[in-house]
Amino acid sequence: MDFKLFSDELAHVNQDCIIAGVFKTTDASMQSQAFKSLDTACNGQLSQMLTSRDIATAAGKVTWLHQPTGITSPRLLIVGCGAVDKLDAGNYRKACLAAGKALRNSRAANAICALSELSVNNRDASWVLQTAALDFAHTDYRYTRTKKPGKHASPATDSIAFISSASEQALTQAAAIAAGVASARHLGDAPPNLCTPVDLAEHAQQLADTQDKVTVEILDPQAMHELGMHALLAVGKGSINPPRLIALHYRNDSADADPYVLVGKGITFDTGGISIKPGPNMEQMKYDMCGAASVLGAFEAVVRLNLPLNVTCVVAAAENMPDGKAYRPGDVITTMSGKTVEVLNTDAEGRMVLCDALTWSTRLNPVAIVDVATLTGACVVALGHHAAAIMTKQDSLADELYSAGQTTHDRAWRLPLWDDYQQQLDSDFADMKNVGGMPAGSITAGCFLSRYVEDQRWAHLDIAGAAWQWGKNNGCTGRPVRLLTQWLVDRCS
Ligand code: BES
Ligand code: MN
Ligand code: ZN
Repeated sequence: MDFKLFSDELAHVNQDCIIAGVFKTTDASMQSQAFKSLDTACNGQLSQMLTSRDIATAAGKVTWLHQPTGITSPRLLIVGCGAVDKLDAGNYRKACLAAGKALRNSRAANAICALSELSVNNRDASWVLQTAALDFAHTDYRYTRTKKPGKHASPATDSIAFISSASEQALTQAAAIAAGVASARHLGDAPPNLCTPVDLAEHAQQLADTQDKVTVEILDPQAMHELGMHALLAVGKGSINPPRLIALHYRNDSADADPYVLVGKGITFDTGGISIKPGPNMEQMKYDMCGAASVLGAFEAVVRLNLPLNVTCVVAAAENMPDGKAYRPGDVITTMSGKTVEVLNTDAEGRMVLCDALTWSTRLNPVAIVDVATLTGACVVALGHHAAAIMTKQDSLADELYSAGQTTHDRAWRLPLWDDYQQQLDSDFADMKNVGGMPAGSITAGCFLSRYVEDQRWAHLDIAGAAWQWGKNNGCTGRPVRLLTQWLVDRCS
Protein backbone atom coordinates (compact mmCIF):
# COMPACT_ATOMS: atom_id res chain seq x y z
CA MET A 1 0.00 0.00 0.00
CA ASP A 2 1.51 3.30 -1.17
CA PHE A 3 1.14 6.54 0.76
CA LYS A 4 1.16 9.89 -1.05
CA LEU A 5 0.25 13.49 -0.36
CA PHE A 6 -2.58 15.18 -2.26
CA SER A 7 -3.32 18.86 -2.67
CA ASP A 8 -5.62 19.27 -5.74
CA GLU A 9 -9.34 19.93 -6.10
CA LEU A 10 -11.23 17.05 -4.45
CA ALA A 11 -14.34 17.21 -6.63
CA HIS A 12 -12.46 16.90 -9.93
CA VAL A 13 -9.96 14.15 -9.23
CA ASN A 14 -10.70 10.68 -10.53
CA GLN A 15 -9.93 8.05 -7.91
CA ASP A 16 -11.89 4.97 -6.78
CA CYS A 17 -12.99 6.70 -3.59
CA ILE A 18 -12.94 10.03 -1.78
CA ILE A 19 -12.97 9.93 2.01
CA ALA A 20 -14.18 12.98 3.92
CA GLY A 21 -15.07 13.64 7.56
CA VAL A 22 -18.35 15.05 8.82
CA PHE A 23 -18.99 16.65 12.21
CA LYS A 24 -22.04 16.61 14.43
CA THR A 25 -22.93 20.30 14.26
CA THR A 26 -25.81 22.48 13.17
CA ASP A 27 -23.40 25.22 12.10
CA ALA A 28 -22.55 24.48 8.44
CA SER A 29 -19.49 26.75 8.60
CA MET A 30 -17.96 24.39 11.20
CA GLN A 31 -18.01 21.41 8.81
CA SER A 32 -14.77 19.92 7.55
CA GLN A 33 -13.07 21.64 4.62
CA ALA A 34 -13.55 18.57 2.42
CA PHE A 35 -17.24 18.22 3.30
CA LYS A 36 -17.89 21.85 2.42
CA SER A 37 -16.09 21.75 -0.93
CA LEU A 38 -17.71 18.45 -1.94
CA ASP A 39 -21.10 19.79 -0.86
CA THR A 40 -20.63 22.83 -3.09
CA ALA A 41 -19.59 20.62 -6.01
CA CYS A 42 -22.73 18.49 -5.71
CA ASN A 43 -25.09 21.42 -5.25
CA GLY A 44 -25.81 20.95 -1.56
CA GLN A 45 -26.76 17.29 -1.81
CA LEU A 46 -24.53 16.42 1.16
CA SER A 47 -25.95 19.05 3.48
CA GLN A 48 -29.47 17.94 2.49
CA MET A 49 -28.63 14.38 3.43
CA LEU A 50 -27.18 15.64 6.69
CA THR A 51 -30.42 17.48 7.50
CA SER A 52 -32.53 14.42 6.66
CA ARG A 53 -30.17 12.31 8.82
CA ASP A 54 -29.12 10.13 5.91
CA ILE A 55 -25.50 10.89 6.81
CA ALA A 56 -24.37 9.69 10.24
CA THR A 57 -22.08 11.94 12.24
CA ALA A 58 -21.22 9.86 15.31
CA ALA A 59 -17.51 9.06 15.49
CA GLY A 60 -16.85 5.85 13.55
CA LYS A 61 -20.14 5.76 11.58
CA VAL A 62 -19.74 5.73 7.81
CA THR A 63 -22.06 6.56 4.91
CA TRP A 64 -21.41 5.53 1.30
CA LEU A 65 -22.51 7.61 -1.67
CA HIS A 66 -22.24 6.20 -5.18
CA GLN A 67 -21.94 8.23 -8.40
CA PRO A 68 -22.49 11.56 -6.60
CA THR A 69 -23.45 14.28 -9.07
CA GLY A 70 -20.86 16.98 -9.69
CA ILE A 71 -18.03 14.83 -8.37
CA THR A 72 -15.67 13.02 -10.74
CA SER A 73 -14.82 10.05 -8.53
CA PRO A 74 -17.43 7.26 -8.40
CA ARG A 75 -17.56 6.80 -4.63
CA LEU A 76 -17.75 9.08 -1.63
CA LEU A 77 -17.16 7.74 1.85
CA ILE A 78 -18.43 10.15 4.49
CA VAL A 79 -17.02 9.40 7.93
CA GLY A 80 -18.60 10.57 11.17
CA CYS A 81 -16.14 12.37 13.46
CA GLY A 82 -18.48 13.35 16.33
CA ALA A 83 -18.49 16.88 17.77
CA VAL A 84 -15.82 19.26 16.41
CA ASP A 85 -14.56 20.27 19.85
CA LYS A 86 -14.43 16.63 20.98
CA LEU A 87 -12.16 15.44 18.17
CA ASP A 88 -9.46 13.90 20.35
CA ALA A 89 -7.02 11.11 19.51
CA GLY A 90 -9.57 8.44 20.45
CA ASN A 91 -12.42 9.73 18.26
CA TYR A 92 -10.06 10.50 15.40
CA ARG A 93 -8.73 6.93 15.45
CA LYS A 94 -12.28 5.59 15.58
CA ALA A 95 -13.04 7.56 12.41
CA CYS A 96 -9.85 6.46 10.64
CA LEU A 97 -10.28 2.79 11.52
CA ALA A 98 -13.94 2.79 10.46
CA ALA A 99 -13.06 4.49 7.17
CA GLY A 100 -10.22 2.06 6.58
CA LYS A 101 -12.44 -0.92 7.25
CA ALA A 102 -15.19 0.35 4.92
CA LEU A 103 -12.63 1.04 2.20
CA ARG A 104 -11.01 -2.36 2.60
CA ASN A 105 -14.38 -4.11 2.27
CA SER A 106 -15.38 -2.09 -0.79
CA ARG A 107 -14.44 -2.55 -4.44
CA ALA A 108 -12.23 0.55 -4.33
CA ALA A 109 -8.48 -0.05 -4.60
CA ASN A 110 -7.24 3.51 -4.20
CA ALA A 111 -8.48 6.59 -2.43
CA ILE A 112 -7.98 10.20 -1.51
CA CYS A 113 -8.30 10.74 2.21
CA ALA A 114 -9.22 14.12 3.64
CA LEU A 115 -9.50 12.98 7.27
CA SER A 116 -5.81 13.80 7.64
CA GLU A 117 -6.45 17.54 7.26
CA LEU A 118 -8.66 17.70 10.37
CA SER A 119 -7.51 19.40 13.57
CA VAL A 120 -7.28 16.94 16.44
CA ASN A 121 -7.10 18.21 20.04
CA ASN A 122 -3.52 18.42 21.34
CA ARG A 123 -2.00 16.82 18.22
CA ASP A 124 0.03 18.33 15.39
CA ALA A 125 -0.43 17.83 11.64
CA SER A 126 2.30 15.15 11.45
CA TRP A 127 0.58 13.07 14.10
CA VAL A 128 -2.78 13.42 12.36
CA LEU A 129 -1.26 12.34 9.05
CA GLN A 130 0.82 9.45 10.46
CA THR A 131 -2.09 8.13 12.49
CA ALA A 132 -4.38 8.08 9.47
CA ALA A 133 -1.72 6.28 7.41
CA LEU A 134 -1.08 3.72 10.16
CA ASP A 135 -4.78 3.09 10.74
CA PHE A 136 -5.50 2.64 7.02
CA ALA A 137 -2.57 0.23 6.80
CA HIS A 138 -3.96 -1.53 9.86
CA THR A 139 -7.38 -2.17 8.36
CA ASP A 140 -5.87 -3.15 5.02
CA TYR A 141 -4.06 -6.09 6.65
CA ARG A 142 -5.25 -9.59 5.83
CA TYR A 143 -3.75 -12.79 7.17
CA THR A 144 -2.49 -14.82 4.18
CA ARG A 145 -0.10 -17.53 5.35
CA THR A 146 -2.65 -20.36 5.29
CA LYS A 147 -5.69 -18.71 3.72
CA LYS A 148 -5.59 -16.98 0.37
CA PRO A 149 -8.21 -14.39 -0.60
CA GLY A 150 -11.18 -15.84 -2.51
CA LYS A 151 -11.83 -15.07 -6.18
CA HIS A 152 -14.37 -12.38 -5.38
CA ALA A 153 -12.68 -11.00 -2.28
CA SER A 154 -12.60 -7.21 -2.01
CA PRO A 155 -9.30 -5.82 -3.29
CA ALA A 156 -6.51 -4.60 -1.01
CA THR A 157 -5.80 -0.89 -1.21
CA ASP A 158 -3.01 -0.03 -3.69
CA SER A 159 -2.54 3.57 -2.71
CA ILE A 160 -3.96 6.32 -0.57
CA ALA A 161 -3.26 10.00 -1.08
CA PHE A 162 -3.68 12.15 2.02
CA ILE A 163 -4.50 15.82 2.32
CA SER A 164 -2.17 17.31 4.90
CA SER A 165 0.11 20.24 5.65
CA ALA A 166 2.63 17.80 7.17
CA SER A 167 5.72 16.61 5.32
CA GLU A 168 6.31 13.74 2.95
CA GLN A 169 8.83 12.49 5.54
CA ALA A 170 6.04 11.94 8.08
CA LEU A 171 4.46 9.57 5.55
CA THR A 172 7.68 7.67 4.87
CA GLN A 173 8.03 7.18 8.61
CA ALA A 174 4.46 5.95 8.88
CA ALA A 175 5.18 3.41 6.13
CA ALA A 176 8.20 2.10 8.07
CA ILE A 177 6.17 1.68 11.24
CA ALA A 178 3.24 0.14 9.35
CA ALA A 179 5.59 -2.50 7.92
CA GLY A 180 6.76 -3.39 11.44
CA VAL A 181 3.18 -3.66 12.69
CA ALA A 182 2.16 -5.87 9.75
CA SER A 183 5.15 -8.20 10.28
CA ALA A 184 4.23 -8.58 13.92
CA ARG A 185 0.63 -9.40 13.01
CA HIS A 186 1.65 -11.98 10.40
CA LEU A 187 3.85 -13.71 12.98
CA GLY A 188 1.19 -13.53 15.69
CA ASP A 189 -1.60 -14.88 13.50
CA ALA A 190 0.42 -17.80 12.11
CA PRO A 191 -0.68 -21.20 13.49
CA PRO A 192 1.49 -22.89 16.12
CA ASN A 193 2.31 -25.88 13.91
CA LEU A 194 4.03 -23.48 11.49
CA CYS A 195 5.18 -20.71 13.79
CA THR A 196 7.64 -22.71 15.91
CA PRO A 197 10.79 -21.44 17.66
CA VAL A 198 12.79 -22.42 14.58
CA ASP A 199 10.33 -20.54 12.36
CA LEU A 200 10.80 -17.40 14.48
CA ALA A 201 14.56 -17.85 14.15
CA GLU A 202 14.21 -18.09 10.37
CA HIS A 203 12.21 -14.88 10.33
CA ALA A 204 15.01 -13.16 12.27
CA GLN A 205 17.64 -14.66 9.98
CA GLN A 206 15.80 -13.24 6.99
CA LEU A 207 15.76 -9.77 8.52
CA ALA A 208 19.52 -9.99 9.04
CA ASP A 209 20.09 -11.29 5.49
CA THR A 210 18.21 -8.40 3.89
CA GLN A 211 19.44 -5.48 6.04
CA ASP A 212 23.12 -4.57 6.08
CA LYS A 213 23.16 -2.93 9.53
CA VAL A 214 21.62 -6.05 11.10
CA THR A 215 23.30 -9.23 12.34
CA VAL A 216 21.74 -12.23 14.02
CA GLU A 217 22.77 -14.76 16.67
CA ILE A 218 20.70 -17.92 17.07
CA LEU A 219 21.40 -20.16 20.05
CA ASP A 220 20.27 -23.80 19.82
CA PRO A 221 19.70 -26.01 22.90
CA GLN A 222 23.35 -27.05 23.04
CA ALA A 223 24.56 -23.44 23.05
CA MET A 224 21.93 -22.59 25.67
CA HIS A 225 23.07 -25.56 27.76
CA GLU A 226 26.67 -24.33 27.69
CA LEU A 227 25.50 -20.92 28.95
CA GLY A 228 23.42 -22.51 31.72
CA MET A 229 20.03 -21.37 30.43
CA HIS A 230 18.26 -24.19 32.23
CA ALA A 231 14.99 -22.31 32.78
CA LEU A 232 14.48 -21.64 29.07
CA LEU A 233 15.56 -25.20 28.32
CA ALA A 234 13.20 -26.64 30.95
CA VAL A 235 10.16 -25.03 29.33
CA GLY A 236 11.15 -26.35 25.90
CA LYS A 237 11.83 -29.91 27.06
CA GLY A 238 8.27 -31.18 26.66
CA SER A 239 8.11 -30.27 22.97
CA ILE A 240 9.51 -31.86 19.84
CA ASN A 241 10.02 -28.29 18.58
CA PRO A 242 13.30 -27.31 20.24
CA PRO A 243 13.72 -23.85 21.82
CA ARG A 244 15.84 -21.01 20.44
CA LEU A 245 17.36 -17.87 21.91
CA ILE A 246 17.35 -15.35 19.08
CA ALA A 247 19.22 -12.03 19.08
CA LEU A 248 19.13 -9.42 16.32
CA HIS A 249 21.65 -6.61 16.51
CA TYR A 250 21.13 -3.32 14.68
CA ARG A 251 24.14 -1.02 14.73
CA ASN A 252 23.63 2.53 13.52
CA ASP A 253 25.30 4.51 16.30
CA SER A 254 29.02 4.64 17.15
CA ALA A 255 30.35 1.12 17.58
CA ASP A 256 30.98 1.53 21.32
CA ALA A 257 27.56 3.06 22.09
CA ASP A 258 25.54 0.82 24.42
CA PRO A 259 22.42 -0.75 22.92
CA TYR A 260 18.76 -0.46 23.78
CA VAL A 261 17.53 -4.01 24.28
CA LEU A 262 13.99 -5.28 23.59
CA VAL A 263 13.21 -8.76 24.92
CA GLY A 264 10.14 -10.73 23.81
CA LYS A 265 8.33 -13.77 25.22
CA GLY A 266 8.13 -16.22 22.34
CA ILE A 267 6.04 -19.14 23.58
CA THR A 268 4.82 -20.43 20.23
CA PHE A 269 2.13 -22.43 21.99
CA ASP A 270 1.24 -22.53 25.68
CA THR A 271 -0.69 -25.63 26.73
CA GLY A 272 0.30 -24.94 30.32
CA GLY A 273 2.54 -28.02 30.23
CA ILE A 274 1.95 -30.61 32.99
CA SER A 275 -0.17 -27.96 34.79
CA ILE A 276 -2.33 -28.19 31.69
CA LYS A 277 -4.82 -25.48 30.77
CA PRO A 278 -8.55 -26.21 30.32
CA GLY A 279 -9.62 -27.01 26.74
CA PRO A 280 -11.94 -24.11 25.85
CA ASN A 281 -10.14 -21.29 24.02
CA MET A 282 -6.78 -23.01 24.30
CA GLU A 283 -6.14 -22.30 20.60
CA GLN A 284 -5.69 -18.67 21.59
CA MET A 285 -2.43 -19.63 23.23
CA LYS A 286 -0.83 -19.53 19.77
CA TYR A 287 -0.70 -15.80 20.54
CA ASP A 288 1.65 -16.44 23.45
CA MET A 289 4.52 -15.38 21.20
CA CYS A 290 3.06 -11.90 20.62
CA GLY A 291 5.68 -10.30 22.87
CA ALA A 292 8.30 -11.73 20.52
CA ALA A 293 6.30 -10.67 17.47
CA SER A 294 6.04 -7.11 18.77
CA VAL A 295 9.73 -6.68 19.58
CA LEU A 296 10.60 -8.12 16.15
CA GLY A 297 8.11 -5.73 14.53
CA ALA A 298 9.42 -2.72 16.44
CA PHE A 299 12.98 -3.76 15.56
CA GLU A 300 12.04 -3.91 11.88
CA ALA A 301 10.43 -0.47 12.11
CA VAL A 302 13.58 0.96 13.75
CA VAL A 303 15.73 -0.49 10.97
CA ARG A 304 13.44 0.89 8.25
CA LEU A 305 13.42 4.29 9.99
CA ASN A 306 17.22 4.11 10.02
CA LEU A 307 17.24 5.48 13.60
CA PRO A 308 20.73 6.54 14.78
CA LEU A 309 20.80 4.02 17.63
CA ASN A 310 22.17 0.63 18.53
CA VAL A 311 19.27 -1.71 19.24
CA THR A 312 19.22 -5.41 20.07
CA CYS A 313 16.12 -7.54 19.93
CA VAL A 314 16.14 -10.75 21.98
CA VAL A 315 13.52 -13.48 21.63
CA ALA A 316 13.12 -16.37 24.05
CA ALA A 317 11.35 -18.94 21.90
CA ALA A 318 9.96 -22.25 23.17
CA GLU A 319 6.83 -24.35 23.10
CA ASN A 320 5.23 -25.31 26.43
CA MET A 321 3.90 -28.88 26.09
CA PRO A 322 3.04 -31.76 28.45
CA ASP A 323 5.18 -34.85 27.82
CA GLY A 324 7.27 -37.53 29.52
CA LYS A 325 10.24 -35.21 29.13
CA ALA A 326 8.42 -32.07 30.28
CA TYR A 327 9.43 -30.11 33.38
CA ARG A 328 7.07 -30.62 36.31
CA PRO A 329 5.69 -28.96 39.44
CA GLY A 330 8.20 -29.49 42.23
CA ASP A 331 11.25 -29.28 39.98
CA VAL A 332 13.98 -26.92 41.10
CA ILE A 333 15.76 -25.31 38.17
CA THR A 334 19.08 -23.45 38.23
CA THR A 335 18.74 -20.41 35.97
CA MET A 336 21.54 -18.82 33.95
CA SER A 337 21.96 -16.24 36.73
CA GLY A 338 22.75 -19.02 39.22
CA LYS A 339 19.53 -18.34 41.13
CA THR A 340 17.32 -21.38 41.71
CA VAL A 341 13.58 -21.55 41.03
CA GLU A 342 11.05 -23.96 42.48
CA VAL A 343 8.44 -24.68 39.83
CA LEU A 344 4.98 -24.73 41.38
CA ASN A 345 3.10 -24.34 38.15
CA THR A 346 4.45 -25.20 34.70
CA ASP A 347 1.92 -22.76 33.23
CA ALA A 348 3.98 -19.88 34.65
CA GLU A 349 6.47 -20.59 31.85
CA GLY A 350 6.79 -17.06 30.45
CA ARG A 351 8.83 -15.82 33.39
CA MET A 352 10.98 -18.96 33.13
CA VAL A 353 12.04 -18.31 29.55
CA LEU A 354 12.35 -14.57 30.14
CA CYS A 355 14.60 -14.79 33.20
CA ASP A 356 17.36 -16.44 31.16
CA ALA A 357 16.83 -14.06 28.24
CA LEU A 358 17.11 -11.13 30.66
CA THR A 359 20.30 -12.49 32.24
CA TRP A 360 21.77 -12.94 28.77
CA SER A 361 20.70 -9.38 27.85
CA THR A 362 22.39 -7.78 30.87
CA ARG A 363 25.72 -8.93 29.42
CA LEU A 364 25.23 -6.55 26.51
CA ASN A 365 25.64 -3.61 28.91
CA PRO A 366 22.32 -2.07 27.77
CA VAL A 367 21.22 1.57 28.13
CA ALA A 368 17.80 0.14 28.99
CA ILE A 369 16.00 -3.20 28.69
CA VAL A 370 12.29 -3.45 27.95
CA ASP A 371 10.70 -6.89 27.92
CA VAL A 372 7.31 -7.54 26.36
CA ALA A 373 5.17 -10.56 27.23
CA THR A 374 1.68 -12.01 27.26
CA LEU A 375 2.60 -12.94 30.79
CA THR A 376 -0.50 -13.18 32.98
CA GLY A 377 -4.23 -13.69 32.68
CA ALA A 378 -4.42 -11.43 35.75
CA CYS A 379 -3.36 -8.52 33.53
CA VAL A 380 -6.49 -8.99 31.41
CA VAL A 381 -8.54 -8.88 34.61
CA ALA A 382 -6.78 -5.71 35.79
CA LEU A 383 -6.67 -3.62 32.60
CA GLY A 384 -8.88 -5.37 30.07
CA HIS A 385 -7.99 -4.95 26.42
CA HIS A 386 -7.30 -1.23 26.29
CA ALA A 387 -3.94 -0.95 27.99
CA ALA A 388 -0.72 -2.86 28.42
CA ALA A 389 0.76 -2.89 31.94
CA ILE A 390 4.06 -1.12 32.61
CA MET A 391 6.15 -2.38 35.52
CA THR A 392 9.47 -0.87 36.45
CA LYS A 393 11.26 0.55 39.47
CA GLN A 394 12.55 3.53 37.46
CA ASP A 395 10.02 6.36 37.40
CA SER A 396 11.75 8.04 34.46
CA LEU A 397 11.55 4.88 32.33
CA ALA A 398 7.89 4.41 33.30
CA ASP A 399 7.24 8.00 32.18
CA GLU A 400 9.04 7.48 28.86
CA LEU A 401 6.99 4.37 28.05
CA TYR A 402 3.73 5.88 29.28
CA SER A 403 4.29 8.94 27.14
CA ALA A 404 5.13 6.85 24.04
CA GLY A 405 1.83 5.06 24.64
CA GLN A 406 -0.07 8.33 24.88
CA THR A 407 1.59 9.74 21.77
CA THR A 408 0.75 6.72 19.65
CA HIS A 409 -2.55 5.95 21.39
CA ASP A 410 -1.09 2.45 21.85
CA ARG A 411 -1.66 2.92 25.52
CA ALA A 412 -0.07 1.50 28.65
CA TRP A 413 -0.68 2.00 32.36
CA ARG A 414 1.68 1.53 35.28
CA LEU A 415 1.33 -1.06 38.04
CA PRO A 416 3.51 -0.88 41.19
CA LEU A 417 6.56 -3.10 41.63
CA TRP A 418 7.01 -2.44 45.34
CA ASP A 419 9.30 -4.75 47.28
CA ASP A 420 6.35 -5.56 49.55
CA TYR A 421 5.11 -8.01 46.91
CA GLN A 422 8.40 -9.88 46.66
CA GLN A 423 7.78 -12.12 49.68
CA GLN A 424 4.96 -13.87 47.82
CA LEU A 425 7.74 -15.61 45.86
CA ASP A 426 9.53 -17.04 48.94
CA SER A 427 10.28 -20.76 48.62
CA ASP A 428 11.46 -23.35 51.15
CA PHE A 429 13.43 -25.24 48.52
CA ALA A 430 14.89 -22.63 46.17
CA ASP A 431 15.71 -18.92 45.89
CA MET A 432 12.18 -18.30 44.69
CA LYS A 433 8.96 -19.95 43.53
CA ASN A 434 7.75 -19.35 40.00
CA VAL A 435 4.28 -18.25 41.16
CA GLY A 436 3.17 -15.80 43.84
CA GLY A 437 -0.40 -16.92 44.51
CA MET A 438 -3.70 -15.21 43.69
CA PRO A 439 -3.19 -11.62 44.88
CA ALA A 440 -1.59 -9.26 42.32
CA GLY A 441 -0.69 -12.00 39.83
CA SER A 442 0.72 -9.59 37.23
CA ILE A 443 2.84 -7.77 39.77
CA THR A 444 4.36 -10.89 41.31
CA ALA A 445 5.25 -12.03 37.78
CA GLY A 446 6.98 -8.66 37.32
CA CYS A 447 8.69 -9.13 40.72
CA PHE A 448 10.03 -12.48 39.55
CA LEU A 449 11.57 -10.87 36.45
CA SER A 450 12.99 -7.96 38.46
CA ARG A 451 15.30 -10.38 40.26
CA TYR A 452 17.20 -10.98 37.04
CA VAL A 453 17.79 -7.33 36.16
CA GLU A 454 19.02 -5.85 39.43
CA ASP A 455 20.94 -2.58 38.84
CA GLN A 456 19.60 -2.37 35.27
CA ARG A 457 17.40 0.28 33.74
CA TRP A 458 14.60 -2.15 33.01
CA ALA A 459 10.85 -2.23 32.40
CA HIS A 460 8.38 -5.03 31.81
CA LEU A 461 5.29 -4.68 29.60
CA ASP A 462 2.52 -7.24 30.18
CA ILE A 463 0.48 -7.26 26.96
CA ALA A 464 -1.84 -10.17 27.80
CA GLY A 465 -4.96 -8.05 27.14
CA ALA A 466 -3.66 -5.92 24.26
CA ALA A 467 -1.87 -8.40 21.99
CA TRP A 468 -4.83 -9.97 20.24
CA GLN A 469 -8.58 -9.71 19.81
CA TRP A 470 -11.08 -12.49 19.51
CA GLY A 471 -14.66 -12.55 18.39
CA LYS A 472 -14.91 -9.19 16.64
CA ASN A 473 -11.90 -8.35 14.43
CA ASN A 474 -10.26 -11.61 15.45
CA GLY A 475 -6.48 -11.64 15.36
CA CYS A 476 -3.15 -10.20 16.43
CA THR A 477 -3.29 -6.43 17.00
CA GLY A 478 0.40 -5.71 16.44
CA ARG A 479 0.52 -3.94 19.78
CA PRO A 480 2.76 -2.54 21.21
CA VAL A 481 4.87 -2.03 18.07
CA ARG A 482 3.77 1.59 17.80
CA LEU A 483 4.56 2.30 21.46
CA LEU A 484 8.00 0.65 21.33
CA THR A 485 8.96 2.36 18.08
CA GLN A 486 7.86 5.75 19.40
CA TRP A 487 9.85 5.18 22.58
CA LEU A 488 13.00 4.60 20.51
CA VAL A 489 12.23 7.52 18.16
CA ASP A 490 11.96 9.73 21.27
CA ARG A 491 15.35 8.47 22.48
CA CYS A 492 17.02 9.92 19.37
CA SER A 493 16.30 13.57 20.17
N1 BES B 1 0.35 -17.09 28.53
C1 BES B 1 -0.26 -17.16 29.80
C2 BES B 1 -0.93 -15.86 30.21
C3 BES B 1 -2.20 -15.51 29.48
C4 BES B 1 -3.38 -16.19 29.74
C5 BES B 1 -2.22 -14.46 28.60
C6 BES B 1 -4.54 -15.84 29.09
C7 BES B 1 -3.40 -14.10 27.96
C8 BES B 1 -4.56 -14.79 28.21
C9 BES B 1 0.78 -17.46 30.87
O1 BES B 1 1.81 -18.29 30.47
C10 BES B 1 0.07 -18.16 31.98
O2 BES B 1 -0.40 -19.23 31.77
N2 BES B 1 0.03 -17.52 33.14
C11 BES B 1 -0.62 -18.07 34.27
C12 BES B 1 0.23 -17.77 35.47
C13 BES B 1 -0.20 -18.49 36.71
C14 BES B 1 0.05 -19.99 36.54
C15 BES B 1 0.57 -17.95 37.87
C16 BES B 1 -2.00 -17.43 34.39
O3 BES B 1 -2.13 -16.23 34.10
O4 BES B 1 -2.94 -18.12 34.74
MN1 MN C 1 1.33 -20.34 30.72
ZN1 ZN D 1 2.26 -18.28 28.51
